[in-house]
Amino acid sequence: MHLFSCCDIEFNLDRGILAVRETWNSRTAFVLAAIGSAIGLGNIWRFPYVAYANGGGAFLVAYFVCLFAAGIPLLMLEFSLGHKTRQAAPGAFKAIHPRLEWFGWFAVGVGFLIVCYYAIIMSWCVNYTWEAATLGWQKDPGQYAVLEHSIGETELEDMEVLTPVPDEMLGMPYTDPIDGSECLIGDEGTILVAFDGRLYGCSTLDNANTFMGSPGDFFFNDFLGLTSEPWKMGQFKWPLFIGFVISWIAIVACVWKGTKTVGKVVYFTVLIPWGLLILFIIRGVTLPGAGVGLHYYLTPVWENLMKGEIWLAALTQVFYSLSVGFAIMIAYGSFLPKKHSIAGSAFIIGIADAATAFCGGLAVFAALGYQATKLGVHITEVVSSGPGLAFVVYPHIITSLPGARIFGVLFFLMLLTLAIDSAFSLLEAATASVKDKWKISHKKVNLIIGGLAFLLGLPMLTGSGLWILDIVDHFMNSWGLTFVVLGEVIIIGWAVGAKKYRNYISDNSNFRIGQWWDICVRWLIPMGILWMLFHEVKARAVPYGNFGLRSMEFVFGWILILLLPVLGDILANARGKAREEPE
Ligand code: PHE
Repeated sequence: MHLFSCCDIEFNLDRGILAVRETWNSRTAFVLAAIGSAIGLGNIWRFPYVAYANGGGAFLVAYFVCLFAAGIPLLMLEFSLGHKTRQAAPGAFKAIHPRLEWFGWFAVGVGFLIVCYYAIIMSWCVNYTWEAATLGWQKDPGQYAVLEHSIGETELEDMEVLTPVPDEMLGMPYTDPIDGSECLIGDEGTILVAFDGRLYGCSTLDNANTFMGSPGDFFFNDFLGLTSEPWKMGQFKWPLFIGFVISWIAIVACVWKGTKTVGKVVYFTVLIPWGLLILFIIRGVTLPGAGVGLHYYLTPVWENLMKGEIWLAALTQVFYSLSVGFAIMIAYGSFLPKKHSIAGSAFIIGIADAATAFCGGLAVFAALGYQATKLGVHITEVVSSGPGLAFVVYPHIITSLPGARIFGVLFFLMLLTLAIDSAFSLLEAATASVKDKWKISHKKVNLIIGGLAFLLGLPMLTGSGLWILDIVDHFMNSWGLTFVVLGEVIIIGWAVGAKKYRNYISDNSNFRIGQWWDICVRWLIPMGILWMLFHEVKARAVPYGNFGLRSMEFVFGWILILLLPVLGDILANARGKAREEPE
């Protein structure tokens, strides 16, 4: 029971101690930390693709509506929950009702499983920074390079793509080295590839990529050693392990002393990727063909606004991108000083995240336009999202630019700095929760939780890593996140009362929040979430990716989701500790 609280010092009679809650060094530090958590790989490799696939400019409209109707109200909810209770997620829900502590642990669990694989992606980035410096992804000639199929001698360098096709070669016959088809140069899709002093014709981009021992081949086969199915372990990849160790050391170091360290680190982890993003936008839009890409990215297809999918895609992207529903923003809110403008910060963070995602799209689509123009193919042939974009398509593009190595290194540094503050925000959410309950020193908890996540990540360094990562990612982001957000809005919007919370937010902001907030929290968000869940169930009636509905992989995902509340309950029932351990 808190008897009185003054500034950030609280006298707790039950515990008989004077507890000082750590707080952010400044408002900027807090805002940057939350922005850092929100902007991540999703802004670069997910948003642009989702926007393009859902009708470009029209998607932006849907995105902004969802941002203001769901994302920002939820940010306010999570910040105020932490701010009011001065506890990370488990303690915050316990303060609402003692029987709700497990729910807080559930949210922490979802975030914890995410950081297990986020660090793996960081390890890929660490390795690719090196691969970029040495252009390692293009050193192997394609395994299919059979000289009989050559169509002429050339002076070109090894592994060069020849565009446009020279006039004098039009109409010459060639045999595609990959599928053996007989073609004529100039027919649609012809790509000429120089290799070993000879010229080959390929009839599709895929064939050309395979022929060249493309970055795709390198990424999936050499680098990851991806196996043909999830239950085949394949090889343990030591370079990935080294990158993984480096990533974890960096993550733990960034949160070593909690907000004190985070508050300083975020100036670098937010400002550096912003700077680099500007560089990549400038580089992108000055490339020939950039306009083609931007046209596809931004041309609005207004009819799409009438379709359900675009709204679903926008809502999912808003939740994922703002990092709500992972216990992070509750923990970050709990470190706010008493006086703070919660609503103002939520708006700044939401808008900064959206602007970064939009700019990420400019950089990506300008480069994709260049690639499509260079190869003389349609943009749909080069567009991609997820790891395929960052680790396959982009390396392709970078390789053909002047200053390839430097741009490659900077690109992966940008991804690393984008990812690290998302990763450490997840660790901090878990650390703060454990620390609140057991009063262990911050450093010790960092090591314990970081160590546990490290161990759980090890299987993802094998050939089946990408499979596992994909399943965990899918289940945590579709089911885990939706359950948490739904629980939050039901608890706050209905059980506690939206109006009461709105008043609290208004009292702790520079301006008052209107009734719209209640409508969003009580009606719009729950309805959106239920719709997401319904859609998810419907979508899963067809096989999940390559897996059948009832396959073991699917069961594995569900075990994870169902295990989390059980673990949450165990942790909630475990006895906490009253005494503070010295740092
Ligand atoms: N918001 C991050 C992004 O856009 C992803 C993320 C989700 C990070 C959850 C942490 C927790 O990439």
